Amino acid sequence: MRLYLEPTDGSIAVALGDEAPEGSQPLAVLPPLYPEWLGGRSFAEAHGARFAYVVGEMARGIASASLVIAAGRAGGIGFFGSGGLPLAKVETALDEISAALGPDVPWGCNLIHSPNEPDLEQALTDLLLRKQVRRVCASAFMALQPTIVQYAFTGVTCSEDGTVTRPNHVFAKISRPEVARQFLAPAPLDLVQQLVRDGRLTADEAALAEHLPVAEDVTVEADSGGHTDNRPLPALFPIIRQLALDIARAHSFAQPARVGAAGGLGTPAAIAAAFQLGADYVVTGSINQATIEAGISSTAKELLCQAGLADCTMAPSADMFELGVKVQVLRKGTFFPQRAGRLYELYTNHASLEAIPAAEREKLERDLFRQPLAAVWESCVAFFERRDPRELERARQEPKHRMALVFRYYLGLSSHWPIVGEAERRHDFQIWCGPAMGSFNAWAAGSFLELPANRTVEQVALNLLEGAAAIVRAGQLRSYGVAVPADAFEFRPRRLRLA
Ligand SMILES: Cc1cc2nc3c(=O)[nH]c(=O)nc-3n(C[C@H](O)[C@H](O)[C@H](O)COP(=O)(O)O)c2cc1C
Repeated sequence: MRLYLEPTDGSIAVALGDEAPEGSQPLAVLPPLYPEWLGGRSFAEAHGARFAYVVGEMARGIASASLVIAAGRAGGIGFFGSGGLPLAKVETALDEISAALGPDVPWGCNLIHSPNEPDLEQALTDLLLRKQVRRVCASAFMALQPTIVQYAFTGVTCSEDGTVTRPNHVFAKISRPEVARQFLAPAPLDLVQQLVRDGRLTADEAALAEHLPVAEDVTVEADSGGHTDNRPLPALFPIIRQLALDIARAHSFAQPARVGAAGGLGTPAAIAAAFQLGADYVVTGSINQATIEAGISSTAKELLCQAGLADCTMAPSADMFELGVKVQVLRKGTFFPQRAGRLYELYTNHASLEAIPAAEREKLERDLFRQPLAAVWESCVAFFERRDPRELERARQEPKHRMALVFRYYLGLSSHWPIVGEAERRHDFQIWCGPAMGSFNAWAAGSFLELPANRTVEQVALNLLEGAAAIVRAGQLRSYGVAVPADAFEFRPRRLRLA
């Protein structure tokens, strides 16, 4: 960008290309701003990533091994979506990523809190440690658990000159200050001591843990696809940013935790805004689900590519159905949100399946389950006999719990159908998605990125970052009092190559 003096009134103006008016005097050149310079310097140093750009985990392997590999090769950090997958599948994916990216390209995996299945959470933690996965995104934790503390401090050492080395990095995904606080501070002493007694941490590791935060990267998740508190980023981010500083000062940490921004990021301007808020790194989610590397069917990707800004809504979640917890899903092209909402209404209004009026039950059997409720219950029995027989015991005592298990059967399958592209169940697709998707689609309209076949993780990432750099730079110039033209804030998608 070149600055010049307007020949008519002597004001400072900007030339984006070679179009400065005749007779104008060149004044200055604004130095370049590279996408690599967006975000916290220490992020790149700590993780060895070229860009402060994270591709967030998406459950059931939607954030697939290929997607994580593509993110790493594009200079960002991808997190594998281990949620809801059997351990054997996670292990295969971790091996694939590790073999493809080698030791120098950063990547990670999701460690999702499973309150109902602590053994599964522990087994996943053990797997991540055994496979030496160096980055884990901790999500769904409302309180610290032994698993994440064990992961955070396993292998921590301190050299004679006082340099602390932490082989494992926790990215804590939070949307509330009270949860962030726990990750930003040292772990409670009793929890650490219990881990020592259980042989999961050594005494030396525990001693160091007393002086270190559990997480050195905290992702602030605003209104997003999937589970979300629906908070706007500008409301939430500054609070967590300040909290990170306050807690670091209170504990005399060498440096405060890095704070990342997630939720609603689908355009260069949104990415620029997140960095201007002070984000050390950005995380994208929904928009990556429509890339060719995502582990979901092409039918689902086509639906995602057609989504507009208002085409998502909140619907009951499968995992916390009884508590009334909701997830953000795609609304356009599927009846899932209405159908899941109806199930929740029935659940709250009736004491058991038998108490639901016959006409309503028939409708459910015909339209939603496409089989008698008794047959659905048999499938539930077969599933929980393997997975957790205690659920069946409880359901036999509590008819309402039996109803919840039957309804959750539909909710569970409805997120599987878009993954495999079950054509028969197209209208029941549960596709987790936030407004970032519609925002991205509007920006990409008319460009090569409009077509699903051109949406690669790399092109999406490079365009967002390059565009964000251009927009931040235009903003810098405007802050010097220069009359920056409106189109300086415009960045259209283009085919970019990693230099
Ligand atoms: C399809 C899908 C599945 C997701 N699954 C998970 C998950 O298993 N664990 C998790 O921590 N976050 C999950 N997320 C959240 C993303 O990692 C990311 O934080 C979020 O999507 C960012 O917000 P955005 O959707 O507005 O871009 C999921 C998001 C989507 C869209």
